[in-house]
Amino acid sequence: MQSIITESPKETEKFAAQLAKKLINKKNNKALVLALEGELGGGKTTFIKGFLKALKVIEKVLSPTFVLIHKHHLKSGDLYHIDAYRLKSEKDLLKLGIKEIFNNPKNIVLIEWADRVKKIIPKTAIWIRFEHLEKNRRKITIEQ
Ligand SMILES: Nc1ncnc2c1ncn2[C@@H]1O[C@H](COP(=O)(O)OP(=O)(O)OP(=O)(O)O)[C@@H](O)[C@H]1O
Ligand SMILES: [Mg+2]
Repeated sequence: MQSIITESPKETEKFAAQLAKKLINKKNNKALVLALEGELGGGKTTFIKGFLKALKVIEKVLSPTFVLIHKHHLKSGDLYHIDAYRLKSEKDLLKLGIKEIFNNPKNIVLIEWADRVKKIIPKTAIWIRFEHLEKNRRKITIEQ
C-alpha cells in the first residue's frame, strides 16, 4: 500500500504521469486495469488527465458523463476511460464488450467509480482510492 498527499490538481496529474510511465513497461497477458474509487471531486478525472498526458494523448480529457466509455488511441493499443457513476449494474458494461477489452493485453483501462461495478473488475486490477482532505489536498492510495 502506497499513499501520497497532493496539494494541487497539477501534483495529482504529475503523480499519475509517473505511475503511468512505470506501469506501461510491464508486460502482461491481460489489459492493464486501474480501478479508481472515492468521493465526488476526489480527483479521479484529474488523475486520468495526467496519466493520458504521460502517454502523449493530447485530446481533451472530459468526465465521460454522457458517454460511458471514451476510447483513445495509443501507439501501443487503446486506452479506455470508463465512468461507472451512472451505471445501474455491471451488465451495461458487459453488453458493451468489456470482457474482450479486459482480455486484450494491448489495452489500458481506467475506470472511475470502479467500486460500483466491482464484480467485473479483474483480480489483477490496481485499485486506487481518492480522498478529499481539504480544498486543494487529496490523499491518493494505491491499494495493492
Ligand atoms: N490535489 C488535488 N488533486 C486533484 N484535484 C484537485 C486537487 N485540489 C483541488 N482539486 C480540484 O478538485 C476537483 C477534482 O475533480 P475531478 O473531476 O478530478 O474529481 P473526480 O474524482 O473525477 O470526481 P467525480 O466523481 O465527480 O467524477 C477539480 O476541480 C480539481 O481542480
Ligand atoms: Mg470524474
